[in-house]
Amino acid sequence: MSRRKLAAGNWKMNKTPSETRAFIEQMKPLVADTESEVLFCVPAIDIVPAVEAAKGSNIEIGAENMYFEDKGAFTGEISAKMIVDAGATHVIIGHSERRDIFGECNQMINKKVLKALEAGLVPVICCGESLEQREQGITVDWIRMQIKIALQGVTAQQVAGSVIAYEPIWAIGTGKTATTEQAQEVCGAIRVLVEELYGKDTAEAVRILYGGSVNPGNAAELFAQPDIDGGLVGGASLKPEFEVIAKA
Ligand code: 13P
Repeated sequence: MSRRKLAAGNWKMNKTPSETRAFIEQMKPLVADTESEVLFCVPAIDIVPAVEAAKGSNIEIGAENMYFEDKGAFTGEISAKMIVDAGATHVIIGHSERRDIFGECNQMINKKVLKALEAGLVPVICCGESLEQREQGITVDWIRMQIKIALQGVTAQQVAGSVIAYEPIWAIGTGKTATTEQAQEVCGAIRVLVEELYGKDTAEAVRILYGGSVNPGNAAELFAQPDIDGGLVGGASLKPEFEVIAKA
């Protein structure tokens, strides 16, 4: 089974629209010949300039979040339809920062996944355990619960085209990467769960990323694991060195 690798950046709250244009222009030639798919998920205000700058290149642009309603009185939110109309193709859903800082629960994340799919976006569905949960030995149970709820009502075909990102919270922005064994163990467990829920073909098609302090030095070893199909990269996606990760 050959799943195409995906090198995805999550800029978080970084880069202005003009910085976005300059950075995408800078990255275009650096990643032009990569075998992997290259995606930058950017702040809402940067989507249009990013899409414009990436035009004609192999760089894809995604959003970092969205709301699950179509339109209406939801001050500050953006809809799936807006993201599509702006020219983006992907959307990160359920990042641990959304869950922890902005109080998003599994049910909300499920609604967002369904709405993103309905609009034709590829959801990058995030899951991950805290250090306390890892120490309690409940990592895989926790991840299974998060993914099971996120995928309620999602069809096998939709799951096959989606992306799941495993990001241990203790590894995000800390410089503390999960070991390749830890990352493979959980990504493998996610694939087993998808097989239980949807069958083997879907499990072999869905792409599962690792995220959490991925950098040019550790990406190749992580991405070589059988169930790790690429990375969701925060800090290191803000610099040209992301080229090395995209080629790992
Ligand atoms: P870092 O790569 O900065 O640890 O962030 C990971 C992340 O949260 C990507 O979504």
